[in-house]
Amino acid sequence: MLYFLLIILVLLVSIGYFVYNKLNQIPQFSKNIIVTGASSGIGECLAETYAMERLAKNLVICARRVDRLHQLKKRIEDKQSKWEQSKKTKVTVLQIDVSIEEDCKRLVDESIKAFDGGKIDYFVLNAGRTSIERFSEAENLDDHKRVMDINYWGPVYTAKQVLPHMKKTGVGHFIVISSVAGLAGMLNRTAYSASKFALKGFFDALRLELVDDGYRNINLTMIYPGAVVSEVHDQVEKRVGKKRNMKVFMSTKDCADHIIRAAELKRIDYPTTNAGAMLHYAGNFIPSNIFDKMRISGAKSMFQE
Ligand SMILES: NC(=O)c1ccc[n+]([C@@H]2O[C@H](COP(=O)([O-])OP(=O)(O)OC[C@H]3O[C@@H](n4cnc5c(N)ncnc54)[C@H](OP(=O)(O)O)[C@@H]3O)[C@@H](O)[C@H]2O)c1
Repeated sequence: MLYFLLIILVLLVSIGYFVYNKLNQIPQFSKNIIVTGASSGIGECLAETYAMERLAKNLVICARRVDRLHQLKKRIEDKQSKWEQSKKTKVTVLQIDVSIEEDCKRLVDESIKAFDGGKIDYFVLNAGRTSIERFSEAENLDDHKRVMDINYWGPVYTAKQVLPHMKKTGVGHFIVISSVAGLAGMLNRTAYSASKFALKGFFDALRLELVDDGYRNINLTMIYPGAVVSEVHDQVEKRVGKKRNMKVFMSTKDCADHIIRAAELKRIDYPTTNAGAMLHYAGNFIPSNIFDKMRISGAKSMFQE
């Protein structure tokens, strides 16, 4: 009887040890991750979540406001200060303007250096600018062009620079932050919607090219967030002269969690809200006069009266 109990005890301890090891193994920990637009909002929160949930071994964060990036790096280092050295995230800060092709080249070159020439697991193309104006009332197309420079050309310049490295290592995953405005045109958002639709067209076609060339481990996930609390809305409020209805907005942490999950599941298109999912899946089944009214009132409800 004693022997039997001993065997059960040894078995239980072995199973416990195995489970404990599995839980602590965190297979994703070795990931090399780049986040553009990490100085505020969704990108900042996503970068911090990758670090604090032990998903990123090496993290490159970039944007134009380098002081904000250094604050984020310090916050991550402070929070991880008591962690074992091997579990800490190495954070690299780069000052990059994604609308400048040379900067995107530097971003890719410096990131590869930071990863010791290793694979890039996630390249989060998040940096973006919003725009709100009625097309027929715009004095010129300057804002339209600026939005395309950042939201469309930034990711395209970056993809052009990084693809040879992804092909060499055979691994890569673009996580592209679009918007619900990239699923259906949004009222007073001609430039913004156009930039996000262009992203979808570009990356969907590129994905097919990669599949056709046999690169099955270079993936793409397009994320379509609904409204998320971030500084982007300060610009909108200034421009429109009305307060945003932030009560209905998602937090950056919830949005970051959606992004991480969608990428782990290798989803191709991922709306983070039910409204986004409806735009994505149900748009073709609702009569257009009803659907248009829903979209116009949806866009207006984002502002306080
Ligand atoms: N918040 C929402 O409701 C919402 C909804 C759907 C989609 N999105 C998308 O989510 C992404 C992040 O937006 P957010 O809401 O987090 O806004 P945010 O707080 O204003 O963040 C935008 C980020 O992009 C960076 N950025 C802007 N222009 C850049 C440039 N030329 N070069 C490099 N970085 C640049 C900004 O950094 P610097 O200014 O320091 O350069 C900042 O880090 C954007 O693509 C946006 O379109 C947001």
